[in-house]
Amino acid sequence: MPAIVLVGAQWGDEGKGKATDLLGSSVDYVVKFNGGNNAGHTIVVDGEKYALHLLPSGILSPGCTPVIGNGVVIDLAVLFQEIDALQARGIDTSRLVVSANAHLIPPYNRVLDKVTERFLGSRRLGTTGRGIGPTYADKMSRVGIRVQDLYDESILRQKVEAALEVKNQVLAKIYNRRAIEVQEVMDELLKHAERLRPMVVDTGLLLSTALDEDKTVLFEAGQATLLDVDHGTYPFVTSSSAVAAGACTGSGVPPTRIDRVIAILKAYSTRVGEGPFPTELHDDMGEFLRKTGAEYGTTTGRPRRCGWVDTVVGRYATRINGVTDFVVTKLDVLTGLEQVPVCVAYDVAGVRHDEMPMSQSDFHHATPIYEYLPGWWEDISACRTFEDLPVNARRYVERVEELIGARVSTIGVGPGRDETIERHSLLGLD
Ligand code: GDP
Ligand code: IMO
Ligand code: MG
Repeated sequence: MPAIVLVGAQWGDEGKGKATDLLGSSVDYVVKFNGGNNAGHTIVVDGEKYALHLLPSGILSPGCTPVIGNGVVIDLAVLFQEIDALQARGIDTSRLVVSANAHLIPPYNRVLDKVTERFLGSRRLGTTGRGIGPTYADKMSRVGIRVQDLYDESILRQKVEAALEVKNQVLAKIYNRRAIEVQEVMDELLKHAERLRPMVVDTGLLLSTALDEDKTVLFEAGQATLLDVDHGTYPFVTSSSAVAAGACTGSGVPPTRIDRVIAILKAYSTRVGEGPFPTELHDDMGEFLRKTGAEYGTTTGRPRRCGWVDTVVGRYATRINGVTDFVVTKLDVLTGLEQVPVCVAYDVAGVRHDEMPMSQSDFHHATPIYEYLPGWWEDISACRTFEDLPVNARRYVERVEELIGARVSTIGVGPGRDETIERHSLLGLD
């Protein structure tokens, strides 16, 4: 049975949570392999809304084991808040397992994330303020704190002391903030240690063994291709590997075991936070997409920046991730437009670019070249097969499919689990 990676094709919030949840009943494991509680996934099941941040979206499927991989950064208080909130709604969270190698977000990194952003002023990135960047920086600088450190108190204390020696200098001398006490950090980290202990396993070994036993494993990315630290619009990115390759480093499963890569592409584009966005709309049409698509952040509540679909970005996502199948979400939001613009290339200082420009400066100055497709007026939320869709909606999907270079296997026509059109099996069964 396959190992499948699911990624965002744009700047996040494409509907990865819904797509993962859709597959949840057909897979044995759902693995979160990057990011932390900067992610926000809204999933609607039988009219009930769930907002997940740190927990893999497979948590809502009975029988599926949710896994937090080594590539994730964990805020323990948030993890247990989320678990408690789900348990209070009758969701079984007892199968959750957590990698011993995952890094923890200590309180000083939340503070540093926020003060650095404030300090940057107009040059800020617009982070979620959850301590993600500083925690991945600590990981790479080899001064991070991992889940396994919770179970050796003297090592934990040494690490916290060493970290605070530097962090407190920075907080006090650069940002004029109060120093943080070692004991304060120890108390916060150890508060949940015993509750976490039974969940901590060697998740790399668990997943490899599961694949040996023919189980199906779904790797669910947080964030998206253009927010990836290597392949995104750097520096306006998150600090982790959000592309398909990240599933391997973030879980301990090697590339030779991955069978399929599904990318989620919203039928238009959105972005939260700062950074270049060629098809962004600053007019009534942008407001139409924001209102109709309810484009407000699940994590921070910020209004999302909105624009037309960008197939240069889609094509790039196909290439970088090796996409086998696309899920196009929120097609219903485009209903009622006379014409639907599709960005097919960029103009940069009079030169046409069919691929992502090599330099950020060029990308900042990219003007979209649009193709205008005829719109449709019919309510499509009840469509359940491709043939049910109005002809212009089908033409839109087919043209986007042609431009992004991989098949569109599933189409979302509403937030609910059932508001979905499946053209081909995402599990590769046809
Ligand atoms: P994620 O971070 O990629 O999981 O996406 P978010 O949950 O942040 O944002 C996607 C939003 O779109 C959520 O509110 C979903 O309930 C909603 N959604 C997903 N698919 C569809 C769809 O096909 N149509 C509509 N109208 N809403 C959808
Ligand atoms: P999901 O998984 C959209 C953005 C932030 C900011 C940048 C860096 O729901 O798609 P960070 O806090 O990660 O250091 O912020 O990345 N960002 C997201 N945008 N969806 C997300 O997650 C995001 N996670 C981070 O807005 O621009
Ligand atoms: Mg989201």
